[in-house]
Amino acid sequence: MGPLGETYHSTGGAIEESQHVYIDSGLRYYLESRKEEGLVPAVVNIFELGLGTGLNVLLTYREMLKDHFPGSVQIFYRAVEINPLESGIWEKLDYARSEKENDFFRKMHRSPWNEPFDPAPGFTLIKLRNNFLDCTFKGPVNVVYYDVFSPAVQPELWTSQAVGKLIPSLSGNTVLTTYCCKGSFKQILRDKGFITQRLPGTGKKRHILRAVYGLHNSLITGVSNASIAK
Ligand SMILES: C[S@@+](CC[C@H](N)C(=O)[O-])C[C@H]1O[C@@H](n2cnc3c(N)ncnc32)[C@H](O)[C@@H]1O
Repeated sequence: MGPLGETYHSTGGAIEESQHVYIDSGLRYYLESRKEEGLVPAVVNIFELGLGTGLNVLLTYREMLKDHFPGSVQIFYRAVEINPLESGIWEKLDYARSEKENDFFRKMHRSPWNEPFDPAPGFTLIKLRNNFLDCTFKGPVNVVYYDVFSPAVQPELWTSQAVGKLIPSLSGNTVLTTYCCKGSFKQILRDKGFITQRLPGTGKKRHILRAVYGLHNSLITGVSNASIAK
């Protein structure tokens, strides 16, 4: 349970939901879209809003170990966290499926804040200990895991101002995914230049949200805001 009274993950299958929302609908989709264009990026720059338990970092590493993940692609992962989890809590989490993942998970949590660290070869992590709303971003972001508490408890993080902080780092095909499919948030994303797509959810979640930055994406994907049922 987080300090605002909301759990870090859905109570309907945390790992499955995070895998579906952030890995399958976000990271994997980004890589498949690049592949369709005949491109294999050297690096995928991921930004996570809300490091929390580190589950999404671990699932990203798990994805990297899979056969379909292009071996030449490196991960550069930045995650911001305002209120880091105490070691007594993350040490009890049993997300890891193998000794390799366990080693990664521990290194990731023990790594220093605010400086680059490689918990595994080809995987660089920077844990930013800060309020997202006070962050200044540098560098490209290709995939955004938007995973803070819900608009009901953290309305300030689902605003135009919050999304606006990301915009200078985004490129024409940055993919943002989140578990929250609220209409007002979708509208904010569209106003900022994203194409939004409501996708089927998993577990107790009926729908999730994927948004692709850049108007030219309608040409690539054939998907435009106007063509999508909300
Ligand atoms: C839903 S939980 C995140 C779950 C996380 N992605 C995981 O895999 O465990 C939301 C996280 O966002 C963090 N958070 C909330 N407000 C924040 C802010 N303004 N800046 C940075 N992090 C914030 C919370 O402390 C919490 O760890």
